[in-house]
Amino acid sequence: MEQDYITSARELSRTDIETVLDRARAIAADPGAYADRHADALLGLLFFEPSTRTKMSFSAAIKRLGGDIVDMGPVDASSVTKGETLADTVRVIEGYADALVLRHPSEGSAAMASEFVDVPLINGGDGAGQHPTQTLLDLYTMRENAGLDGITVGVMGDLKYGRTVHSLAHALTNFDVRQRFISPESLRLPRKVRYDLDDEGVDLEEHAELSAVLDSLDVLYVTRIQKERFPDEREYRAVAGEYQVDAATLEAAEELTLMHPLPRVDEIAADVDETDHARYFEQAHNGVPVRMALLDILLGGTR
Ligand code: NCD
Repeated sequence: MEQDYITSARELSRTDIETVLDRARAIAADPGAYADRHADALLGLLFFEPSTRTKMSFSAAIKRLGGDIVDMGPVDASSVTKGETLADTVRVIEGYADALVLRHPSEGSAAMASEFVDVPLINGGDGAGQHPTQTLLDLYTMRENAGLDGITVGVMGDLKYGRTVHSLAHALTNFDVRQRFISPESLRLPRKVRYDLDDEGVDLEEHAELSAVLDSLDVLYVTRIQKERFPDEREYRAVAGEYQVDAATLEAAEELTLMHPLPRVDEIAADVDETDHARYFEQAHNGVPVRMALLDILLGGTR
């Protein structure tokens, strides 16, 4: 991997992705072999927005490599409340840690912050922008369950504000994957993402109904409507609950792998959980070996 920051999935080449995924597979097969790899490493956590999976799996990952975390903690208990800028905050915390993970409500914040620090900086989600490490674990899960070439992936839900969608769509352009997008008109893919995909020559369709493409899908990636990003609550209520999947929806789709970055609200009914389609908890668990692999590479592990 050439760069030592991970701010957008657009920067990841096929080789970068395969290097991380292969390392993650080796780690998952023999985690004990990596237990002391980064015994002195400290990972700085700067989370300006709520997080369960990203924060906890990064913590688990660095600890399973023998290292530890230094955590800024909740924003309202930090000097951010005194008016400190993000640029100053990251410049201070880089002196306490060997790598940083930043989650922030502003799109572009991770790219901006990476210019102020010399240690590796990882974007853990920047507003409605990108979430590249979620994409790496999504790709890992997809590769294990459906393979990554010659497949058709449907992405459904909030394609406008969903940063996991934007990262995934970009990363999939490295593979022979047909992309099908299913959403209400008001939440379709941002045009800048759509035009990027067109420039890459992606076989792409946008639909309002899942039934239009369900038969053709190998993977269906469902996302939550990102309530917190809507400027107007009424707009949210107009689309909330529109795109739901239950076991009956999937009855005819025999081989379909169903994924979701989580948290889910009501997009996937509980009766899907026990079916062979459901891969979302496995997907969340894959966050640990994948983030171990990424940290190992960024912190200088050779193999
Ligand atoms: C996602 C996020 O924060 O973008 N969560 C996650 O990291 N798995 C998805 C979401 O919040 O809907």
